[in-house]
Amino acid sequence: MKRYVPALVTLHWLMAILILMALFFGKVVIAPLSDGFEDKLTNLAGHMIVGLLIGALLIARLIVRIRAQNPPHVETGNALLNFLGKASHWAFYVLIAVMVISGIAMSMGAGLMPMALGGAEAVLPEGFETLVPRRIHVAASTALVLLVLMHLGATLYHQFFLRDSLIKRMWFGS
Ligand code: HEM
Ligand code: HEM
Repeated sequence: MKRYVPALVTLHWLMAILILMALFFGKVVIAPLSDGFEDKLTNLAGHMIVGLLIGALLIARLIVRIRAQNPPHVETGNALLNFLGKASHWAFYVLIAVMVISGIAMSMGAGLMPMALGGAEAVLPEGFETLVPRRIHVAASTALVLLVLMHLGATLYHQFFLRDSLIKRMWFGS
C-alpha cells in the first residue's frame, strides 16, 4: 500500500489536533462570551496565536502536498463518493485559508491585535458584531465543523464498511 509521505502525515495529525482545538475553543468558550468583557480578549489571545500557527502550517502543508508523490485517490465503487472524497480534501485547504484570512482581517479591522497580544486597553469597537470578516469567520467555522464530521464519517465508512484500512495511508510505515 502506498502511503502519504511522513511530513504530510505529521502535518495532517498536528493540524487536525490544532483545528479541533480551535473549533472547540471558539464555539464553546469564545462564542458565548459577551463582546464587552475583558475575558473575551484574554481568551482570544491564545486563539489568535493558535490560528496564526495553523496558517503557517497550512502553507507548509500545501507546499509538501504539491511536491510529494501522493497515493492515488481511492476508488469506492461510487462516482459521487469518489467526487466527494477528492472535493472535500481540497475544500479543507480552502476553508482553513478562509478561517485564517478572515480571523486576521477581523482582528485588524477591530484593532484586536494590540489589545489581545500587546497589552493595549481592552475596548471592542462599535459595530464589531456586524464586521463582514467576523460574519465570514463564524459561517466558515460552522462549515468546517460539518466538513470535519463528514471526513470522520468517511473514515469510519472506509474502515468498517469498505474495510480497505484507508487510515493506514495517513500513518507512518514503509
Ligand atoms: C483554522 C483556524 C481558525 C479556526 C478553526 C477558528 C475558529 C473560530 C471559532 C469556531 C470561533 C467562534 C465563532 C462563533 O462565534 O461561532 C472563532 C472566533 C474568533 N476567531 Fe478564530 N479561528 C481560526 C483562526 C483565527 C485567526 C488566525 C484569528 C486572528 C488572528 C482568529 C480570531 C478570532 C476572533 C477575534 C474571534 C471572535 C469573534 C467573535 O467574537 O465572535 N481566528 N474562531
Ligand atoms: C478527526 C480525525 C481525523 C481522522 C480520523 C482523519 C483521517 C484521515 C484519513 C484516513 C485520511 C486519508 C485519506 C486517503 O487516503 O485518501 C485523511 C486525509 C486528509 N485529511 Fe484527515 N482526518 C481527521 C481530521 C482531519 C482534519 C481536522 C483535517 C483538517 C485539516 C483533515 C484534513 C485532511 C486532508 C486535507 C486529507 C487529504 C490529504 C491531504 O491532501 O493533505 N483531517 N484524513
